[in-house]
Amino acid sequence: MTVEMQPSTGLKAAIEQRRAARAFHSEAITQAVLQQILQLGVRAPSGYNLQPWRFIVVQEQQNKDKLKACAFNQRQVGEAPVVLICCGDRRVGQMENIESVIQLGREAGAINDDYADYMRSQVPPFFENHPSFESIEAWTNRHTMLAVAHIMIVAKNLGVDSCPMEEFSTAQIKEAFNIAAEVDVCCLLALGYAAEPFKQYGGRFSLDQVCFSESYGQAFSLSSSP
Ligand SMILES: Cc1cc2nc3c(=O)[nH]c(=O)nc-3n(C[C@H](O)[C@H](O)[C@H](O)COP(=O)(O)O)c2cc1C
Repeated sequence: MTVEMQPSTGLKAAIEQRRAARAFHSEAITQAVLQQILQLGVRAPSGYNLQPWRFIVVQEQQNKDKLKACAFNQRQVGEAPVVLICCGDRRVGQMENIESVIQLGREAGAINDDYADYMRSQVPPFFENHPSFESIEAWTNRHTMLAVAHIMIVAKNLGVDSCPMEEFSTAQIKEAFNIAAEVDVCCLLALGYAAEPFKQYGGRFSLDQVCFSESYGQAFSLSSSP
């Protein structure tokens, strides 16, 4: 089932209007909207296209209540019609997944024999040496949160509110939802239609506080030329 639907709001408005909703109406998200959100969410980029994100889609009330108990009883977990347990699978660097990515790329016409061999030779040492991350968990988080960001923006673009959450017990969730030891729980994401009290925009630091020019700590400003 693929349903094309028009976004209810523009991309800029979706980004500006997204708030971390703390309360939700009971109104369901249609399966077609949920499908669109998830399908566009997993268009996120990933290193070597390994796609480590995994989502447990929790919709049954008894399971949301179970999850709420693992998340310090946060109201939005029990109220939102859909809550995603957003996970990252550390096993994607194994040859079995590398071959699946190669197969996928071949079917899409994007991977030839040379690139397939490059992947087979490059990915295993990348995970052994991991020069750009300290632990594989940091790597799974890096990627899963990118997909989560996609999901939140796509959802808002379709009129669906969200709340990302890190206040939960990983150990409790892993046990309650049969999550393997090699899989990290990166965050929870409630999805639905926000109810009052609406969360106000808390502001963001200005660009000159968070951007640097050429070297860390060096003042950044946009030049006057376009
Ligand atoms: C990774 C992450 C974890 C968060 N964890 C929680 C949480 O456990 N509970 C909660 O109510 N909000 C949580 N938030 C929402 C933040 O409080 C919220 O994004 C922040 O205050 C900025 O507000 P805004 O998203 O409405 O602009 C989390 C946000 C992120 C990105």
